[in-house]
Amino acid sequence: MILHSDSNQSNWVVIVAAGQGSRMGGDLPKQFMQLGGQEILRYSVNAFQQHVAIHGIIIVTSDQFLNHVKNAYPACEVVPGGVTRQDSSAKGVAACPDDATKILVHDAARPFLSQQIINECLAALDEYEAAAPVLPLRDTIVMSVDTAWQQLDRQTLRAMQTPEGFQAETLRAAHRSGVVGTDEIGLVLTSNPEAQVHLFEGSPDNFKITTSLDLELAAIVAARYRS
Ligand code: CTP
Ligand code: MG
Repeated sequence: MILHSDSNQSNWVVIVAAGQGSRMGGDLPKQFMQLGGQEILRYSVNAFQQHVAIHGIIIVTSDQFLNHVKNAYPACEVVPGGVTRQDSSAKGVAACPDDATKILVHDAARPFLSQQIINECLAALDEYEAAAPVLPLRDTIVMSVDTAWQQLDRQTLRAMQTPEGFQAETLRAAHRSGVVGTDEIGLVLTSNPEAQVHLFEGSPDNFKITTSLDLELAAIVAARYRS
């Protein structure tokens, strides 16, 4: 499936949408909940479909929702997910064509990603093996050390957002390496600490909907996106 054509680049997106949303609760996994008149997953699909440099989108979802997602997003390829986010991401990456040059992995639970973030991610991958948006931390952070607490220097820490972007072979090698992690930049850094990773400033809008409070906040942001 080709959404847009471009010279010698083949940029693919994996949207991971196979989670259960246990922290949100409710009858439906959060990516299928309604937000401002459409389901949450549709926001990120639209953002990538609107981008001229994205050639194809793979949506990874659980067996129960495969038919729904295939019907609702006929321009995307849809594959079954796994037990962990890492399994789901690996299955999405395996479904990307062999000639993909850059692969972006995005959480379906982050509906408000901008064209600018996609641009920055793709542009950085001309020079770097991996790239992702990050935000500075607002709260003071402490770490448990034995029986005590130790304060960390917040200035040196960042919170990761998605899309996380990769030169395709870097991402495939990280998945093959056997390391375990909650995101793909983590897999790359653990399996290859020398990897050239570019972290750039993300956006507060691009937050992950995790709890029902996040869904209330997202309704406010969605109204801004519609207007
Ligand atoms: N995800 C996935 N496959 C899994 C687990 C998570 O594709 N086995 C996806 C989710 O659908 C979500 C993204 O990874 O878009 C980020 O994960 P998270 O926010 O943790 O979502 P859930 O795992 O669904 O939520 P929870 O952890 O509260 O159960
Ligand atoms: Mg989870």
